[in-house]
Amino acid sequence: MFRSRKCNVLGAVTVLASLSLAQSVWSEPGVGHYGYGQPATEEQIAGWDIDVRPDGLGLPEGSGSVEDGEWIYEAKCASCHGTFGEGVDGYPSLAGGEGSLTDGRPHKTVGSYWNHTSTVWDYINRAMPYTAPRSLNPDEVYALTAYVLFLNDLIDYDFVMDDSNLAEVRLPNEPNFIPDQRPDTNNERCMSGCKDPASVTLVSIGPELVIEEQSIDAVIEVAAAGEAVYQQYCQLCHTSGLAGAPKIGDVVQWSTRLTKGIDTVYRHAIEGYQGEVGVMPAKGGFAQLTDDEVRASVDYMVQESQ
Ligand code: HEC
Ligand code: HEC
Repeated sequence: MFRSRKCNVLGAVTVLASLSLAQSVWSEPGVGHYGYGQPATEEQIAGWDIDVRPDGLGLPEGSGSVEDGEWIYEAKCASCHGTFGEGVDGYPSLAGGEGSLTDGRPHKTVGSYWNHTSTVWDYINRAMPYTAPRSLNPDEVYALTAYVLFLNDLIDYDFVMDDSNLAEVRLPNEPNFIPDQRPDTNNERCMSGCKDPASVTLVSIGPELVIEEQSIDAVIEVAAAGEAVYQQYCQLCHTSGLAGAPKIGDVVQWSTRLTKGIDTVYRHAIEGYQGEVGVMPAKGGFAQLTDDEVRASVDYMVQESQ
């Protein structure tokens, strides 16, 4: 939800008036559209309403200089992200990688890949420092955003970032983000003469999901490649982190797990094991997979998590 930073007094009075009217109807627990729950208070909504838009709408008032950011960064961020944003011990790098997006192994950072400065502000505000998210005040977030952009050579050291100029700072990769023109489509419910559900498999091809009429064996035959096996059998847990499964793309998780050696990691995937956070079933619970297919899907997860 976006709201204007400037408060319209007349608007506020109107909202208050209608709130108190609504209050009499809503204050009873259990009264409401579905007969339970209570409407969220303005205060509760404000606690969640932290998103910001590329044009700056939603930003709180505040400001911070690159110089301020440097101090905060050294104290709260450099231990993981490195003094120059180079990343330490497998933690993500925040700078560098310019011009690498078309390489076989692109180096994606705030400077080389991200689209909007508001995203940097929002990410830091929402999620960092990793061990204490939401602990920074707006001025600190402005200063850190400015400093991360400075580390990417995008602004000068004397820059002071605030809610009115943040949106003017553009990131180099912004033009490469394009609106998705594909139309939304709705599933149509089948009521008669439908396909045998056992013959329908969900297969991922690139970024699009398509339903194909294929048996599981055929999928394996056609695409024994690690990615296909992963999509079919492992992603249920490893995309979301269900039951404690290490998430694909989580650099830290996977680099830590790999310290025991890839052969142990393969063996755990094939034979299954009880780990510290949960149970990895043998072959993800799909005994029909060959050891090679499991190893290939492990390779795929590792490759996607670097
Ligand atoms: C304890 C280690 C740690 C500390 C300290 C830390 N971060 Fe992070 N940071 C991470 C991890 C891990 C990720 C990746 C999280 C993910 O992908 O889910 C990350 C991601 C980021 C990203 C996104 C990088 C990308 O390209 O996806 C930014 C920006 C960032 N951190 C900024 C900061 C700032 C600013 C601070 C200091 C206020 C900070 N971090 C402190 C561990 C840390
Ligand atoms: C039902 C959920 C589930 C499915 C499906 C699943 N996994 Fe896992 N996997 C887990 C959990 C949970 C862990 C973490 C266990 C722990 O370390 O506590 C894990 C851990 C792993 C690890 C890390 C091993 C290590 O030594 O640290 C690998 C590799 C792995 N899974 C591969 C796979 C592969 C390959 C597939 C698909 C063939 C798959 N998983 C399917 C739940 C699942």
